[in-house]
Amino acid sequence: MFSLSQLANTYQQFHDTSGIKGAPIELYAPVNYIMSLGGKRARPVLCLAANDMFNGDLQQALPLAYAIELFHNFTLVHDDIMDQAPLRRGQHTVHKEYGTARAILSGDVMMIHVYEYFKHLPDAAYRQVISVFNKAAIEVCEGQQMDMNFEDRQTVSLNEYLQMISYKTAVLLGASLQIGAIAAGASLTDQQLLYKVGVDTGVAFQIQDDILDSFGDEASFGKSIGGDIRQNKKTCLLIRALELATGDDKAQLESYITNNDIDPEEKVAAVKQLYLKLKVVDAAEAMRLEYHKGALDALHSLSLSADKIEPLENYINSLLQRQV
Ligand code: IPE
Ligand code: IPE
Ligand code: MG
Ligand code: MG
Ligand code: MG
Repeated sequence: MFSLSQLANTYQQFHDTSGIKGAPIELYAPVNYIMSLGGKRARPVLCLAANDMFNGDLQQALPLAYAIELFHNFTLVHDDIMDQAPLRRGQHTVHKEYGTARAILSGDVMMIHVYEYFKHLPDAAYRQVISVFNKAAIEVCEGQQMDMNFEDRQTVSLNEYLQMISYKTAVLLGASLQIGAIAAGASLTDQQLLYKVGVDTGVAFQIQDDILDSFGDEASFGKSIGGDIRQNKKTCLLIRALELATGDDKAQLESYITNNDIDPEEKVAAVKQLYLKLKVVDAAEAMRLEYHKGALDALHSLSLSADKIEPLENYINSLLQRQV
């Protein structure tokens, strides 16, 4: 077994020496730009950790981990266009740096290259990986559309929000773990438990992302603070605030999310003020902890000894306390 930091370092070396080469340069420069900007590499680490827990072959799993990170980066490139985001990982987003047309096409080619990295698997594992990956990838698109549909709605229920973040974010973490486990030949029961570990971790991870989008530190978070408020995203913070606010507070909040003529900076400051007054971050943190616990419970149901589980458990604990 490898330690998680050994897995992360080995992945990083593979990542840094992989790069997608090709012409025209205008198509591939944005791909290599986003792939070299860093990021937490959470999905590849999850994939390799799951593979290692079941004694998989690290060399065989590395291209799978890279494929998932490539897909994740493709979703970020298109997500930043959809969310009109200026910053990613502390740098210009791809569409700010290269223009929207190139960001769309470079994202498309990244998504197609993903499949090249699955091809070396033996037939049976290949078919299973493709079916798990395709299901997650389709759900990511469905979740992303729900996220945009909700921008135009006045109210969204907590259950609708949970479904949306489960699709846009969490299923890919589930698939990362399951794909690592498939490559290692884990049983279907263990694969499914690991998928649940990933989905619960992913829901908690997105709740934290929503908290940081309003209250994080821009320099370390690497994204523009207040983007969700500017875009009328129905985050867990806004949903809870709409539920708790009364009188003038409620009227003010409703006018902020329907009136697009308000100065964006004034809107961000005022909505954050209301969030603080209504203590919505406490409620979001309680919900994040609930999903964190769900993930750890599923992890402890695996057919493995505690020492095999511990590295992934520690990793999930650190990922969910993230400030970046
Ligand atoms: C950003 O993902 C998109 C979300 C699902 C919140 P990450 O927070 O994993 O981004 P990087 O890869 O570390 O930059
Ligand atoms: C993004 O959710 C999920 C995907 C990229 C599929 P967000 O829109 O919250 O992600 P960030 O905050 O831009 O990273
Ligand atoms: Mg976004
Ligand atoms: Mg988004
Ligand atoms: Mg976000």
